[in-house]
Amino acid sequence: PGHEEYTRNMVTGASTADLAIILIDSRQGILQQTRRHSYIASLLGIRHVVLAVNKIDLVDFQQQVYEEIVADYMAFAKELSFASIRPIPISARDGDNVISASANTPWYRGAALLEYLETVELDPTDQAKPFRFPVQMVMRPNADFRGYAGQISCGRISVGDPVVVAKTGQRTSVKAIVTYDGELATAGEGEAVTLVLSDEVDASRGNMLVAPGARPFVADQFQAHVIWFDANPMMPGRSYILRTETDSVSATVTTLKHQVNINSFIREAAKSLQMNEVGVCNISTQAPIAFDAYKDNRTTGNFIIVDRVTNATVGAGLIDFPLRRADNVHWHALEVNKSARSAMKNQLPAVLWFTGLSGSGKSTIANELDRILHAQGKHTYLLDGDNVRHGLNRDLGFTEEDRVENIRRVAEVAKLMADAGLIVLVSFISPFRDERRMARELMEEGEFIEIFVDTPLDECARRDPKGLYEKALAGKIANFTGVSSCYEAPENPELHIRTVGHQPTDLALAIEEFLDCRIGGQMTPLQRPT
Ligand code: ADX
Repeated sequence: PGHEEYTRNMVTGASTADLAIILIDSRQGILQQTRRHSYIASLLGIRHVVLAVNKIDLVDFQQQVYEEIVADYMAFAKELSFASIRPIPISARDGDNVISASANTPWYRGAALLEYLETVELDPTDQAKPFRFPVQMVMRPNADFRGYAGQISCGRISVGDPVVVAKTGQRTSVKAIVTYDGELATAGEGEAVTLVLSDEVDASRGNMLVAPGARPFVADQFQAHVIWFDANPMMPGRSYILRTETDSVSATVTTLKHQVNINSFIREAAKSLQMNEVGVCNISTQAPIAFDAYKDNRTTGNFIIVDRVTNATVGAGLIDFPLRRADNVHWHALEVNKSARSAMKNQLPAVLWFTGLSGSGKSTIANELDRILHAQGKHTYLLDGDNVRHGLNRDLGFTEEDRVENIRRVAEVAKLMADAGLIVLVSFISPFRDERRMARELMEEGEFIEIFVDTPLDECARRDPKGLYEKALAGKIANFTGVSSCYEAPENPELHIRTVGHQPTDLALAIEEFLDCRIGGQMTPLQRPT
């Protein structure tokens, strides 16, 4: 497989390995990927390394070449705190020092590769780990039986032992341990069993049954080391799916604290993570998850990141620790709520999300519509890109990362305003589908109305109300939407407005009419049912 594929397999497959073989081409010595894979191995907690200096035949079995590579590697790996590094000169093609000692390398006295692998002593597995049982499935074949199926990720359990449901804290005990081959009195790490509990508890897939004295963290914010695999960089603010052993939740990286330079191990500031880069991030999940720190438990401390659209694994992460603030900041249920506020205004809240190229007419139409709604006594607010970028978002420019953050903030503000009972008009280019979807998912069902203001690029450039296209086409503005930065047109907007040949006022009236009638049998968002 390609190099990226290799890194991906290594991270997702090797989190329980104890030893890594790092293969080096004698003709090339230590490469970028040697460093990267060694760093990732150390991050994964792999303690032992075999440095297989391969293709030694192609450098005429020269001891000096071998020794220089070994010295280079040792110097580099000093910082990685491996417990052992065993260099071996080999030729995988001809078999030198693979199965048995080679006559071509009389200067090498150590064991051949396989011999070493068969005899190497790895660290004894730590038996003292607390019980962790991620629930994979609730089994209810009939009304009399309810069992929790899964694989014991660590620790032991016996019939009669107390257990706690990680996310709810409910306490109960194990009544029976059922397997395909009958019942057991006790079971340990790696065994697939079904646990029957003494009490009815609420523990579905994604939850964990754990030892009462050593509970995992349950939080919706934590710090993690993230390794990125995808050609599309990881962007703080973008919404991904985060999968642990059994759980799957929406998640965003709230802060990319730094990325790690794999040559020097120096922390470097970064706004996004490119393919194969490693960074330290704060992550926020939509619902709390149960986890351990990766250093304490490799199974319950790791996760993968999945792209919402393609379903591809785009990254992997190792959890460092929960962020305490997540424990202490609870959502405060307020007495005066959204429906009380919107009832007083005699309207249902809505977010009218205008998207389209610069100069497409979004703001003009949104402005007209705002005027019409206001005249009808509606309580509205217009959030406009050019204005918000002067205040709240004045620290943001037009790179992809900054636009993602721009839209994230605006979506959150629109959500607050809808919560205040307002009809919010949002007019931003909002060029990326992902962020528009994120905004949609933030709002309540039916509340988000996407309005695609569709004006062809040529027409926008011809109108050029701010003279920006002229500059952009002359190469004087970087990342200009439609010219040097992409615009992803909506695929299923609630409204698709073609502006050419129409007056903004007429278009605004048409939107108002659309909003004012029933959509698919549902009440429009603007009118409260009487
Ligand atoms: S968005 O892409 O992040 O949604 P936003 O709507 O906030 O963009 O801002 C777009 C406005 O900023 C444009 O109407 C234009 O006036 C101005 N602008 C300045 N530079 C750029 C650029 N590189 N690309 C697009 N718009 C720009």
